Amino acid sequence: MGTTEQHELLIDGEFRPSESGDTFRTLDPATEEPIGTVAAAKEADIDRTVESASAAFFDWKKTSPEERGRLLYALADAIREEKERLAELETRDCGKPISQAEADVEGCARYFEYYAGIADKIHGDSIPLDYDHVDYTIKEPLGITAQIIPWNFPINLVGRTVAPALAAGNVAVAKPAEQTPLSALEVGELALNVGFPPGVLNVVPGFGAEAGAALAGHPDVNGVSFTGSVVTGRTVAKLAMDNTTPVHLELGGKSPNVVFPDADFETAVENAITAIFTTNAGQVCSAGSRLLVHEDIHDEFIDELATRVAELSVGPGMDAPDVGPLVSSDQHEKVRKFIDIGREEVGEPVVGGEIPDREGYFVRPTVFDGVDNQSRIAQEEIFGPVLSVITFSDENEAIELANDVEYGLVAGIFTEDLGRAHRFAREVEAGQIYINEWFAGGVETPFGGFKDSGFGREKGLEAIESYTQVKNVCANIGADR
Ligand code: NAI
Ligand code: MG
Repeated sequence: MGTTEQHELLIDGEFRPSESGDTFRTLDPATEEPIGTVAAAKEADIDRTVESASAAFFDWKKTSPEERGRLLYALADAIREEKERLAELETRDCGKPISQAEADVEGCARYFEYYAGIADKIHGDSIPLDYDHVDYTIKEPLGITAQIIPWNFPINLVGRTVAPALAAGNVAVAKPAEQTPLSALEVGELALNVGFPPGVLNVVPGFGAEAGAALAGHPDVNGVSFTGSVVTGRTVAKLAMDNTTPVHLELGGKSPNVVFPDADFETAVENAITAIFTTNAGQVCSAGSRLLVHEDIHDEFIDELATRVAELSVGPGMDAPDVGPLVSSDQHEKVRKFIDIGREEVGEPVVGGEIPDREGYFVRPTVFDGVDNQSRIAQEEIFGPVLSVITFSDENEAIELANDVEYGLVAGIFTEDLGRAHRFAREVEAGQIYINEWFAGGVETPFGGFKDSGFGREKGLEAIESYTQVKNVCANIGADR
């Protein structure tokens, strides 16, 4: 594209440039060409947003839950109606294969729909004390909530973080990642179109250290949801903590995918590939990036896996490949560096390792076999199509290896032995366990990490807990008081 479209900040129901007039460009990672020029929010813009959000909250908290739910339903419908256009925009902005972008848009709609249905079911309890007291709890919204969103599932994560916030009566200030700001702005515009009051959903693209930090550290923000790297998550939590602002962190993983000899072979191979290669080129917090294979099936399993991985197509997301480009030159650089580290630690990969000689941030899906669980490629989040294979000989060793990592987001097991599957689920340190299917679950299933993978839960009914605070009211109704 010769010219790029201009995009502004969505603050208090209006699209406006940033106060500084600064902008940044977002690229199509398949071509490395800019596709949009976007206003860059900074501290002054965040101040202005939070101030108007405060006025918006004053009215929004009084809007009936029924009406809030209706608006959320309307937004879900509007997103679905625009599915094709939004999916194409998403693919061009972040690179993922078009069918996955479509699924992400549907996921976003589904979050608004799911939480629409919950908006009028968020209620407290009545607690029996004694004859002379009435006691009850109310679940109140936090107020102004900030959603700091990464680049790997831009539109999907807008739904995941914003929908429960709004359903519970909060207002939202979403800060999409600087690599992928476009789809969040579209959702904000659709929200206005379907009748959300101005200032209930604000969208402020900008750089992390500027817009993100100003938002996380703003004294009038009442809740922060962050998804991204451990390092940035800790920074965000410290900023929030300076104001005693609650924060929940979703920080990625190095998740173990454990395959036993009694597993259905075909299912296990297919899911091992989905877990790390064909879902967003491995740029997924819940990727199965460590494959733990039992020694009895190791050779056969890795032969079959390598054969299929070699056949995966790599190309621009709009061409519907198996694996699209990585999101940015930084991410490309990081993954290439880890492939070099892998070569030093274990030698040549059994498949992949090549960087296609073309424009765009492409990497061939890569499998390293014979990996020591203590090596860097087994311990550190690569966030790309690179799989580390580790061999084990019994159940205890599998659990030990699975847990011997700082992260604890998800874990998967492939086995026909029910007892073993549930023993694993009990012992493994992770917030979500998959049995005989990777990426199982939906918007209904609570999601979040153990250990360095974060705290707080998103998705499902649990997310409402992250976006409400409980008030207890106790009244003495005794006649003799
Ligand atoms: P990041 O964690 O720095 O960025 C995520 C979001 O945080 C973006 O919106 C960014 O603008 C914002 N941000 C950055 N610095 C900030 C600050 N000081 N204060 C407030 N907000 C800030 O992640 P990055 O650098 O894009 O990717 C680096 C690595 O992080 C990846 O290679 C991957 O390992 C991991 N990551 C994990 C994700 C997950 O889903 N858990 C998503 C994206 C990245
Ligand atoms: Mg982009």
